[in-house]
Amino acid sequence: MTAEVPARAVPGMRGPDVGRERDGARPTLVWDVLRDVVAARAAQSGRAALDIVDVGGGTGGFAVPFAALGHHVTVVDPSPDALAAARRRAAEMRVTLTEVQGEADGLDSLVGVDAADLVICHSVLEYVDSPAAAMAAIARVLRPGATVSVLAANVVSAVLQRALAGRYEQARRLLDGEGGDAGLPRRFTLAGLTALIESAGLRAGDAHGIRVFAGLLPAAGADQGTAAELRALEEAAAAYPPLRDIAARLHVLGHR
Ligand SMILES: C[S@@+](CC[C@H](N)C(=O)[O-])C[C@H]1O[C@@H](n2cnc3c(N)ncnc32)[C@H](O)[C@@H]1O
Repeated sequence: MTAEVPARAVPGMRGPDVGRERDGARPTLVWDVLRDVVAARAAQSGRAALDIVDVGGGTGGFAVPFAALGHHVTVVDPSPDALAAARRRAAEMRVTLTEVQGEADGLDSLVGVDAADLVICHSVLEYVDSPAAAMAAIARVLRPGATVSVLAANVVSAVLQRALAGRYEQARRLLDGEGGDAGLPRRFTLAGLTALIESAGLRAGDAHGIRVFAGLLPAAGADQGTAAELRALEEAAAAYPPLRDIAARLHVLGHR
């Protein structure tokens, strides 16, 4: 794997555009958490350039910024269109990604066992055939001491959103696990994500809630006058358990 890093790409690097919310709520939390994870791993391993696998990496919103920081990044995705978009984004930043077409549950056969310092699995478990099989494959890819970053949609937020909109039947069906919205992606609870990580033999680490209030109030943040206040509130709520647990999306680390 290679990552050409133009020197100018690193200073001032502000992280991925992906996840930047219209309302400005916690646009960089996940990036900040992962940058700290990577820095700690680099210090602990004595290797400045780490091996990072972005499974279901889509258009490279996280992969490209990490490649620009000098890491060896592999994007695995079943979609040729997503891989092509990631390649274009990488070219624009003048970095190189390794692209592999394939699915999460075959990750170890695609990139190797004990091959990664960090696996990014963002907004992907919602779509895979079996989250447990995907997480087991991710665990096999992690080196000892390595980390998986999991970001997934929260069913609790979806239930609250529907109830607040007066869609009580849909909310109850979601709560009962009946898939209140047929055809829409799978959703998780924090407990469910934690159990998934631990069932794969990993230790669940820090968890954050992304878009606690903005997830419930679609208009939140539209008022530029209060956007900074909302951002500060989201910042405080992200790691405050009762509020974190109802966020639109849940970010959980798993460590081998
Ligand atoms: C919502 S996008 C998320 C993209 C990116 N991770 C992000 O956070 O922006 C979901 C991605 O998962 C990919 N995907 C779908 N099924 C998958 C599977 N079984 N294994 C791996 N990736 C899959 C899709 O092609 C798509 O690129």
